[in-house]
Amino acid sequence: MSYSRLLSPFQVADVNLKNRIVMPPMVIWKSGEDAEVRDVHLRHYASCAGPGLMIVEATAVSPDGKLHKNQLGIFEDRHIQGLSRLANTIRKTGALPGIQINHAGGRSTPEWNWGLTPLAPATDGSIQPDSPECRALSIDDIERIQADFVSAAKRAVQAGFEYIELHYAHGYLGSQFLSPLTNTRTDRYGGSLENRQRFLIETYRLCREAVGDKALLSCRLGIIDKDEGGISLEEGIDTARKLEAEGAPILHISRAHGVPDSVRPEGSSFDPLLHLAGNARPELGIPVIGIGGILDPGTAEKALKTGIADLVAVGRGILADPQWALKTIRNTAEKINTCRQCSPCLWYKTPEK
Ligand code: FNR
Repeated sequence: MSYSRLLSPFQVADVNLKNRIVMPPMVIWKSGEDAEVRDVHLRHYASCAGPGLMIVEATAVSPDGKLHKNQLGIFEDRHIQGLSRLANTIRKTGALPGIQINHAGGRSTPEWNWGLTPLAPATDGSIQPDSPECRALSIDDIERIQADFVSAAKRAVQAGFEYIELHYAHGYLGSQFLSPLTNTRTDRYGGSLENRQRFLIETYRLCREAVGDKALLSCRLGIIDKDEGGISLEEGIDTARKLEAEGAPILHISRAHGVPDSVRPEGSSFDPLLHLAGNARPELGIPVIGIGGILDPGTAEKALKTGIADLVAVGRGILADPQWALKTIRNTAEKINTCRQCSPCLWYKTPEK
């Protein structure tokens, strides 16, 4: 089978990607509590060489926004050196080096309890890392977190990342603001769609002012909640349009999630979410990255040819076989060790490499 579209170059703004395969952000929890890059990160990303764009896993913009005690961080200048080694490692593979920056909001925790212990009842975007009780962010908290995103984005540029993605998906702080299931605020950050969008749009705008044209500033946007009463597709697409109007040159389309109860029980797998990119793309004038359930290059090629997405991200497929992209490029796709959706990686038990 020919993968001519998948392997063809793609241009975003003035940046050229060697092909249309994206490695999406996937946490491997290999930092120490210092949140620093370790050699295992360099080896892991180098071993996944082949995609045109590689996006480093969710990296915390502040210590209280960490979702795991061993998560990578970008909240102090001391992190820049290790991150710069990581960006260089990725660049040497021929990929554009990207990074996702995140605040986990009400899912912040110093321990790994994501989905395993009851989290707070639905509240507006909240932080309280040491307690299962979440509290509403004050306006001062919001401004401080926005400043943390800006500092993180600047550090990402200093480290040499050329694509920066604000994490507005998967039930973390951006999603928590957008979703009526988790945002019950009555101030200017809650209530109407415009108010629920405010944190996302303002934070994007501030980061964009700080980053300018030094990097592609994107968002991973959850355009729908899976639970009733959550973000509707129309609301998600409206948010995507507003981010485009703020200057986003590309968006990475995924799902928001909703309330913590949405977290899947062990043993199950992610839903195929690729159609969400297909919903957003015709509504936007910028390219979109599609994700969700692409296990083989044939499916990826078809998604591009049928216009579902401009670029396709392959998550578990690359974890199952880090040479997924290289084998596709070398025309030995039949040798790909295909992801069996067996789920250990979903529970972050990625083996040491
Ligand atoms: C993820 N995912 C994820 N998403 C995200 O936005 N930031 C992250 O850091 C992570 N971390 C992560 C770790 C692991 C081990 C897995 C399996 C997944 C979600 C991921 O980027 C992707 O959206 C899903 O895996 C769905 O795509 P696939 O796996 O069906 O291609």
